[in-house]
Amino acid sequence: MQLISPNFSDILPANFEIKAFPDGDSYVRILDLEKYKGKDVTLFHRLYPNQNDSLMQAILIIRLLKKAKCNVSMVAPYLPYSRQDKTFLEGESKSAEVICNLLSESGVKKLITFDCHFLKKEGEFKYGKLNIKNISLSRALVELAKQKFNNEHFEVISPDQGASYLVEEFGGKSMKKIRGDYIEGQEAYRKIERIEGDFDLGGKNVLIIDDMVSTGGTMVKAVENVKKGGAKKVGCATIHGFFLKDSLQRLKSSADFVFASDTIPNEVAEVNIRNLIDKL
Ligand code: R5P
Repeated sequence: MQLISPNFSDILPANFEIKAFPDGDSYVRILDLEKYKGKDVTLFHRLYPNQNDSLMQAILIIRLLKKAKCNVSMVAPYLPYSRQDKTFLEGESKSAEVICNLLSESGVKKLITFDCHFLKKEGEFKYGKLNIKNISLSRALVELAKQKFNNEHFEVISPDQGASYLVEEFGGKSMKKIRGDYIEGQEAYRKIERIEGDFDLGGKNVLIIDDMVSTGGTMVKAVENVKKGGAKKVGCATIHGFFLKDSLQRLKSSADFVFASDTIPNEVAEVNIRNLIDKL
């Protein structure tokens, strides 16, 4: 049986309620909970944008289903906090593990997600206490890029080693990203010192693929780098398009095209997860 969240209604019709109390507390309601009792249930619920509220809504729904003795799988196309799988400074939280344990302890038997940052390959995994099925959209991105490059040959490159698994299958190379310390102020952001990778790209088309574009810092520097290497036409593709601040504008003005999947709804979502979801 399927439970579809209102935040998934761009893909499937929603069949339970999410609201907020006047003070902002989350409200969830499964209208016909009785019929789910003891059944295998797949919950489709996005955990981004508004990741903290969305996580709380997920916990409330999953606990309801756990109480009703359901066997719960959850489809969350993007897993928030997945970049905090390592600590940089002493005393930091390894939040990726905290979130995975929270989902598992609440009652998720398996999480199905796309290009989970800390897994870096497709397949079935256990991370912390959570079982995860990780599906990659890299092939779908490359397929679409073929059309964008009018079937001309193109090189596939990732902006850092972490995303190398997205390009290896296509004979792609990876640049190396060097991050510095956290910036001053309230935003926890480690600036990018530089991106290295001296590839001879003279007259070649290049597709840069990263698992996510957040502030755009990585992708913008990667585009500059391949242009320095002589690239002809440059395309940018990502699975999870946050496109924060003015990053989409900046990318559109430096690259020939930019697109993403719809794991996170965004303005340039051209690769749809619907087909893959139907096959689950
Ligand atoms: C991190 O290693 C990820 O793979 C992305 O490269 C990174 O999160 C992108 O962030 P931003 O767009 O802020 O550079």
